[in-house]
Amino acid sequence: MSFHQQPAPISRPNRCQLFGPGSRTSLFPKMAASAADVINLDLEDSVAPSDKDQARKNIIAATHDVDWGGKTLSVRINALDTPYWYKDVVDLLEQASDQLDQIMIPKVGCAADVYAVDALVTAIETAKSRSKPINLEVIIESAAGISHVEEIASSSQRLVAISLGAADFAASMGMQTTGIGGTQENYYMLNEGQKYWSDPWHWAQVAIVAACRSNGLLPVDGPFGDFSDEEGFRAQARRSATLGMVGKWAIHPKQISLSNEIFTPSKAAVDEAREILGAMELAKSNGDGATVYKGRLVDIASIKQAEVIVQQFEMINDA
Ligand code: COA
Ligand code: MG
Repeated sequence: MSFHQQPAPISRPNRCQLFGPGSRTSLFPKMAASAADVINLDLEDSVAPSDKDQARKNIIAATHDVDWGGKTLSVRINALDTPYWYKDVVDLLEQASDQLDQIMIPKVGCAADVYAVDALVTAIETAKSRSKPINLEVIIESAAGISHVEEIASSSQRLVAISLGAADFAASMGMQTTGIGGTQENYYMLNEGQKYWSDPWHWAQVAIVAACRSNGLLPVDGPFGDFSDEEGFRAQARRSATLGMVGKWAIHPKQISLSNEIFTPSKAAVDEAREILGAMELAKSNGDGATVYKGRLVDIASIKQAEVIVQQFEMINDA
């Protein structure tokens, strides 16, 4: 085992990241009043090229005029292969209020992509004497991004979170699907004529979780496109939470309460975790490192597992 301690991620709820196009200002007050922990105002793919300049102005104005309360306010800039991104960063850093917490970089393919944005952000922050440092979050949504996820995860002190973007990821990988996340019809195993569906997003999620956890970042599941399918969303979100992700995007307000429900540890899970901690306290006082809880083994590793659930619950409750 490495003697390095695994760094802790930023301590704030990130169960739901609600997206809205920067061109639809009528949504901004509704987003601010929502129950999402993080707001992502978008300058990228939900904004048409002809609307980019206006959307940028709208978002800057909204950092001054809209009260975003205790939410984390993030703006998704355009990707580094577009002519828009530098102005997104320059205008935001020069003109946005201190309500702006974070910039999301889409389609990150290597550590140098993050370095480039960090350099620009740092120069403007210094020039403008901005008192609050801007955090960064990135989306892994390409073959290059997932191949370089480890170097991306350690690319900047400003980086706090990585999301998986299923749609662009699928396109970049050449996957034969137009679905955005969730079960894919053709991804199944056959056993005695019965179909058993598997999860094509699983390995990419796990790669992101491992890269995030080893660098103290929040791993986040991206969009689930079919916002009419609540059970499909729940199933995807439950898998993500089980794998260690802390939250999921909402691309429609219907998905906010679903995300909050799944990524807040349930009362039953917290009660059980506390009972395990209690059982281990008793074991320790008897000089034992392992004991039996409800007919199964619990030991010192179980303390760490139970603490993940209790600490997540308490952090969300205290926020
Ligand atoms: N945030 C807050 N409120 C929203 C919202 C959002 N992202 N999207 C819709 N609403 C509101 C609508 O204004 C409407 O409010 P009302 O009841 O006061 O009239 C209500 O929720 C129901 O909306 P609905 O009519 O079902 O949706 P729509 O047709 O207006 O918009 C989408 C649907 C998908 C176009 C819209 O939700 C959207 O733009 N989502 C985000 C897309 C995005 O940012 N993508 C980039 C990341 S993948
Ligand atoms: Mg995308």
